[in-house]
Amino acid sequence: MKATKMKSELALVVGASGTVGGDLLRRLQTLGLRTRATTSKRGNLGDGQVHVDLVTGEGIKEAFEGADRAFLLSPPGYANQHALLSPLIQEAKRRGLKKVVLMTAIGVDANEASPFRKAELELEKSGLNYNIIRPNWFMQNFNTFWIQGINAQNKILLPAGTAKTSFIDARDISAVAANLLVSEELNNQAFNLTGPEALDHDQVAAQISNVTNRKIEYVEIQPSELKMGLLAGGLPEDYAELLLILFGFLREGYNAAVTSDVQKIMGRSPLSFTQYTNDFKKSWN
Ligand SMILES: NC(=O)c1ccc[n+]([C@@H]2O[C@H](COP(=O)([O-])OP(=O)(O)OC[C@H]3O[C@@H](n4cnc5c(N)ncnc54)[C@H](OP(=O)(O)O)[C@@H]3O)[C@@H](O)[C@H]2O)c1
Repeated sequence: MKATKMKSELALVVGASGTVGGDLLRRLQTLGLRTRATTSKRGNLGDGQVHVDLVTGEGIKEAFEGADRAFLLSPPGYANQHALLSPLIQEAKRRGLKKVVLMTAIGVDANEASPFRKAELELEKSGLNYNIIRPNWFMQNFNTFWIQGINAQNKILLPAGTAKTSFIDARDISAVAANLLVSEELNNQAFNLTGPEALDHDQVAAQISNVTNRKIEYVEIQPSELKMGLLAGGLPEDYAELLLILFGFLREGYNAAVTSDVQKIMGRSPLSFTQYTNDFKKSWN
């Protein structure tokens, strides 16, 4: 797309304060687009921010006012992602957006009845130009969700077995999302996004040890122990159960395959785990 044309366009980013959405917002601004960022928070909103609560549907219609393109995600913590995403897809359709990029998760297309897959199908049938991106487990989980065990006990405590996972750097996800959002070349396709290699959790622990000069260990725990921790951390039971199912797939090796989709879209290799640990080493203090 020509830069001059892009400058007049407005891109709506759902989940814009999150790991993927925050970086995506910056990339779209760098490309010259006008952006609108959703937040479920209220009160003093920043420039270009709008209040949207995906649980109640509040603010969705207003958020799409004048938007040309939109990036959609369902926040973590909600097991019925279709219920949250469907009103967004309907509004995008009603407004006839030029392009929608939806982020789900790797493997969701294995079950046509899964809530994420239902959202994908709704978008596919909407008649809108779209892309679906299905990332594998994020590298950034180790400096967010799993950080407490690493920093407090020098341990990665997960029911991950010995299987390998082709973790992806979230910065590659946002780079891909930005590219797809402003281009029509790869319209109406889904992409499975992975990193360049598959690592098991011992290898992950070794790589974090390298940059922290501490001995970080992977300790396999029972799914029930993870569930207790997730519930204690305030996650709803149905989402905790969903995560346990996802760890079951991971343990069986379903998350190990490496795809070439980042290369196809970006024309470069995905970022490595070594790059990630170097860039995020300050997180593990
Ligand atoms: N982590 C992984 O390994 C992984 C792997 C594959 C797929 N995924 C998918 O990636 C998505 C998460 O992406 P992420 O990590 O970038 O998210 P994130 O960092 O957790 O950010 C979530 C965003 O959602 C917003 N939000 C929270 N509650 C909301 C509500 N009720 N209404 C509207 N917005 C709300 C938050 O902003 P405010 O607080 O400002 O509202 C925040 O910007 C999920 O759909 C997950 O299934 C994750």
